[in-house]
Parts: sequence; C-alpha cells; structure tokens
Amino acid sequence: MLGCSDLTVAYGDIVALHGVTLQVRAGETVALIGANGAGKTTLLQTISGLNKVRGGHISFDGSPLDSLSCERRVRLGIAHAPEGRRIFPGLTVEENLVLATSPWRPPGGRYGDEIAQVFELFPRLKERRRQLGWSLSGGEQQMLAIGRALMARPRLLLLDEPSLGLAPRLAEEVYERVGRIRRSGLTILVVEQNTVLALAVADRGYVLETGRVVLEGAAAELKRDPRVREAYLGR
Ligand SMILES: Nc1ncnc2c1ncn2[C@@H]1O[C@H](COP(=O)(O)OP(=O)(O)O)[C@@H](O)[C@H]1O
Ligand SMILES: [Mg+2]
Repeated sequence: MLGCSDLTVAYGDIVALHGVTLQVRAGETVALIGANGAGKTTLLQTISGLNKVRGGHISFDGSPLDSLSCERRVRLGIAHAPEGRRIFPGLTVEENLVLATSPWRPPGGRYGDEIAQVFELFPRLKERRRQLGWSLSGGEQQMLAIGRALMARPRLLLLDEPSLGLAPRLAEEVYERVGRIRRSGLTILVVEQNTVLALAVADRGYVLETGRVVLEGAAAELKRDPRVREAYLGR
C-alpha cells in the first residue's frame, strides 16, 4: 500500500533521513522504532506531504505521492495523528472531530456515522464530548488525536508516538485501542520510542537510527533480537 524507497529528507544542512526504504502492506500494522531524534516524525511528516523530499520516492497504491499536496494525500486515505496531539484547546471534543472532516465535506454535510464510530471506540470521548480540548487529560487528548484522524475514514493511519508523555497505564490503554483499530482491518504505521508497546501491536517493524533503517523484520523476531533488547529494551 505504502512504499518509501531510498528516501532522503533534510532541514537545510541537517540530513534527517538518509535513504530510508520501507513498505507497509494493506492490512498490516508496522512499527518504526527509534530513539529521540532518529527521524521518526520527519518520516511521517514526509509521507503526509509536510516535508520536501530531497531524494527517493514515496508511492501509495502504486502511484507516486511526491508531487501531491497534503490535502490530496488525505483524500487518498492517508491520515496522520501528529506528535504532541495538536488538538484545538479552545474547541470541544465534538468540534475537534467535526473540524477534521471539513476540507472534503460540503458545508452542512453530516458527520454522524464517523463520530458514532469514534465514540464507540473511545467511550471516554463521548462522555466528554462538550468538554474543551485543553481540559482533557493527556491520554484523552491522544485518543482525540487518533479519533480525529479516523474521521477522514482513512485507509492508512499514521501514528506519531501515541504513548509520549503518558503514564504507563494510560499508554497501555491507548495501545489497546490501537489494537482494536488494527483488528478492524485498517492499515497502520506507528512510530515509537516505546518499543515494547509498539512491537506488541505490530506485525512487522523497522528500527531507525540517525535517519537510517538498521534492522527490519517480523515484530516477534525484533522483540527477541539481542540488538533491539540491548538498545531499546534496557537489557
Ligand atoms: N524543523 C526542523 N528544523 C531543523 N532540524 C529538524 C527539524 N525537525 C527535526 N529536525 C532534526 O531532524 C532530526 C530528526 O528529528 P525528528 O524527525 O523529529 O526525530 P524523532 O521524531 O525520531 O525524534 C533531528 O536531528 C532533529 O533535530
Ligand atoms: Mg518525533
């Protein structure tokens, strides 16, 4: 479904991705793990069209994405729950969700089905539907960021460190929901520093170090790999 081949991305003189090649097949959940500064956010932003590609290509369903705007990519079915949630603090939960559909819906369009689906997945958001974004806990904000991405009825969901800044129990709760989204058949690319959570939900994984893929394989194999255990699992 998604293919990145030999992707190079730079911020001025700082090269953040050095020839990254990876694939995400339809129906798969793929984890990209790496330390702070490895280039994970840069990769997701590049797939979404927020960063310029210096070298290499990205394809989606076999067609090149490189020249398409962010909005065109959303319309093709790519949705991004960004690092740090980026929800609107002064809008309610429900307004945050409705807003996420507006670019490709006619004014006055109906959002009932999508919202109902998001509320079914995250009952806590339903309870807090009239609450303002800023008043949500970190875990609830993360759920809202994921729910907002789902409002576009995507075919590929990009998740940027959904566990970041959350207490372990909340991070597990968010990942339990990611597992449900996966079982519903949606294709997911999740980037994480939390190797344990990400590899537990994924079919396959890649390890990114300073902008290069250094390891790839089935999630179960990566979990057992001594290099992953030493570098990312603290043993
Ligand atoms: N807007 C930016 N301007 C300059 N350098 C950046 C910018 N964003 C990220 N970088 C640099 O690119 C590298 C990768 O960053 P990032 O993709 O955010 O990594 P990660 O998400 O894995 O923590 C880092 O060296 C970071 O300092
Ligand atoms: Mg990041």
